[in-house]
Amino acid sequence: MRSDTGQVFRLEDYRPSDYLIPLTHLDFDLSPEATLVTAELTFERRAGVADTAPVVLDGDGLELVGLAIDGKPAKPGDFEATPDLLTVKPPRAKRFVLTIGTRLSPQTNTQLMGLYRSNGVYCTQCEAEGFRRITYFLDRPDILSIYSVRMEAPKKDAPLLLSNGNPGAHGDLDGERHYAEWNDPFPKPSYLFALVAGDLGSIRSHFVTKSGRRVELGIFVEHGKEARAVYAMDALKRSMCWDEEKFGREYDLDVFNIVAVSDFNMGAMENKGLNVFNDKYVLADEETATDADYANIEAVIAHEYFHNWTGNRITCRDWFQLCLKEGLTVFRDHEFSADQRSRAVKRIAEVRTLRAHQFPEDQGPLAHPVRPRRYREINNFYTATVYEKGSEVVRMVSTILGEDAFRRGMDLYFERHDGEAATVEDFLKVFEDVSGQDLSQFSLWYNQAGTPNLTVKTSHDPASAELILDIEQSVPPTPNESRKRLMHIPLAFGLVGSNGHDAAYTSAEGATVENGVIHIRKRRHQVRFGGFPQRPVVSLNRGFSAPITLSVQQRSEDRIFLARHDDDLYSRWQALNTLFTDALIAASRQKRGGKTPKFNAGTIALAGAIAEDETLEPAYRALALALPGEADIAREIGSNIDPDAIFEAREALVSAIAAANGETFAELYEKLSDKAPFSPDAANAGRRALRNVLLDYLSAGGDPTRAADQYRTATNMTDRAGALTVLAHRHGGSKVSTAALTAFEKHYGPDPLVMDKWFMIQATVPGPETVESVAALMEHKRFSIANPNRVRALVGTFAIANQTGFNRRDGAGYRLFGETVLKVEKRNPQVAARLATALRSWRSFEPERQEQARIVLAGIASTPGLSADLRDIVERTLA
Ligand code: TRP
Ligand code: ZN
Repeated sequence: MRSDTGQVFRLEDYRPSDYLIPLTHLDFDLSPEATLVTAELTFERRAGVADTAPVVLDGDGLELVGLAIDGKPAKPGDFEATPDLLTVKPPRAKRFVLTIGTRLSPQTNTQLMGLYRSNGVYCTQCEAEGFRRITYFLDRPDILSIYSVRMEAPKKDAPLLLSNGNPGAHGDLDGERHYAEWNDPFPKPSYLFALVAGDLGSIRSHFVTKSGRRVELGIFVEHGKEARAVYAMDALKRSMCWDEEKFGREYDLDVFNIVAVSDFNMGAMENKGLNVFNDKYVLADEETATDADYANIEAVIAHEYFHNWTGNRITCRDWFQLCLKEGLTVFRDHEFSADQRSRAVKRIAEVRTLRAHQFPEDQGPLAHPVRPRRYREINNFYTATVYEKGSEVVRMVSTILGEDAFRRGMDLYFERHDGEAATVEDFLKVFEDVSGQDLSQFSLWYNQAGTPNLTVKTSHDPASAELILDIEQSVPPTPNESRKRLMHIPLAFGLVGSNGHDAAYTSAEGATVENGVIHIRKRRHQVRFGGFPQRPVVSLNRGFSAPITLSVQQRSEDRIFLARHDDDLYSRWQALNTLFTDALIAASRQKRGGKTPKFNAGTIALAGAIAEDETLEPAYRALALALPGEADIAREIGSNIDPDAIFEAREALVSAIAAANGETFAELYEKLSDKAPFSPDAANAGRRALRNVLLDYLSAGGDPTRAADQYRTATNMTDRAGALTVLAHRHGGSKVSTAALTAFEKHYGPDPLVMDKWFMIQATVPGPETVESVAALMEHKRFSIANPNRVRALVGTFAIANQTGFNRRDGAGYRLFGETVLKVEKRNPQVAARLATALRSWRSFEPERQEQARIVLAGIASTPGLSADLRDIVERTLA
């Protein structure tokens, strides 16, 4: 484990390196505990750099076994090597070759960075700084090099030998060994290097690009799981097609390979021509995967594929620019999924995710700008802010410019920066150049942390027939940024007439108003719309045009009206969601005060009306009926949170809705129970989603029969897991629930990805006893502290998605969590640090829980020998 140097990296310290590495040749002699790597690196001194400037290369835990300079063994005085640094006295010549030998032990590499083994398969993960665990290098993204790779291994252990680029020579060697060569003609940064060697099954296909080039496609999975890769292959081809159509981007190599591995720190990795995936984002069939899994696979396959242009062909100058590839690529995968499925449903899901993950980050101790200015550990900046808010910022560029100019800007970006390591400034400049707009105020979205708030007061003046909006913006302070500047916020809106449709205004003053968007640029705007003898209902932030919070005084009748009639489907959902949230906040106050919550009959009836509304697709109705989660309600309350009161308030609303709409729900549930052959498409998935939401309402009264029936008759994992969730959460301890959990375990025990669902369902059982059951499950033979997916499914889910269990008043949840984080850290600091972020909202709880959380955080912070990754998170969380 690399110890914490305490070093802080700053954006303003960026400096080009003294040397370039135009060519990189790597030779791997693979063996579990003694892999030999020979790196032949061609260096070139940059113009103007003194020929005495030392070559200083990054390493991380390396063992140097050989060094030659221009082919001659280096003499002791010519270099200095530590596990983390290699400094070489340069030859006089401008261009020279260093040949570096290192010895690695992939088998014992538990950090899953660099070269490691997963189920006996050799694989690599180099982003962000894993390449330096393979060889000494200028391991920074602005060093673009052309790579050639040769690897050899025993044929039996590794019949498959893959790397980036196009395949070259391969053949047999003495002693049952073989070799393969790979050449990648596109210069790339070291973080995109990949190698895979092992014994895997595969499915193959091909794709013909729009200019007629044939690309061989392969997806490699564990033997026996080939059929479960078919959906991923289909998603890949649809992604390739979509990128040609929507962005004019063609694939550029002769092959594109995807490998699924079961030990992986994150979701997937976009290595050039050789994407490596967490197997949960590849493998799916109806028996083992839910509709949500299918949707995630489609999105992640697309995301990694799209990186080929946004990330690989144009990469990042430095890691501060991470959002340049990640935010943009998330935007692209969001648009892809919106086009493949239902745009409104996709948008609502995105907003829910952003609010659930990015808002708490932005509103807590770990807040940072989309483009951070400083970091201690870059691994800790693969965040919801960089990815999801980063995507929202790109979406705003598109909103501000309009679709056509946005596309022209993207075309210019690809044309101008192909083959370069670019910056956020480069990105914004292309949009300024194509549109003539000034985006300097807009660029604050990249540089300033915190979620802006708009407070809006509406009034109507019948005399002047004006609708008046008084809008005020504020940005709350965040760590190290107490004073905030005013932002450019594109606020999409509609003024809805009594007929339920948008009414046209005859004049607009007080702000630039264009194409349905009010451009907020000042602290205060009074925007006056003429042409309204009758008061219209105001619909704001349509489509979630800006990632902000809104405080609008609006009557419930207006909200109910918007929920029924707004032309913008996202805003209809938002209106309903606000009604529910307000009701739940009020109810949780009542619960805390020992009172019985009362709910507005109009809101309750609305739920029934929406469930039945056949003009809305089932997936949409499912989202509308899914109440705000406990964490959503807690976030809206903001401080002094009592999760038990929130839970009870939410249960009360579920019961009230179920009681008032029981018959409607039951009829609809039956109607949706068709037994047509399974298809994972969005329409069918939507029907299953609605049916599962209804099942939850229908089970709120305490009768497990329907859920038990659904469990028994389920023919796909969505229905089965949906039923099991209701049984375990609503009827826990009952005979049927216990029987179902046992049956599931027995049937799916050998399938780790399916067992993750079993762990997740039990980790999210509400109530105080779940702490003990999670502790017991950690001893289960199917659990493993060494596998990130298992840890995240059981412990991560418990911490993120179990408000009452994790935040148990006596702190037992936090203590179990803290101990687990430290256990995980011993093997894998990156996964431990990410896990630990689940404590980031600790200060928003009531004092007793805060104190319990603080003790656990302080305990972690005072643990000797803490990794840089975990120390960074814990210290910022406590600050
Ligand atoms: N670049 C990857 C993506 O978003 C994610 C990634 C970054 C990653 N660092 C990683 C994946 C480390 C695995 C391990 O597509
Ligand atoms: Zn990415």
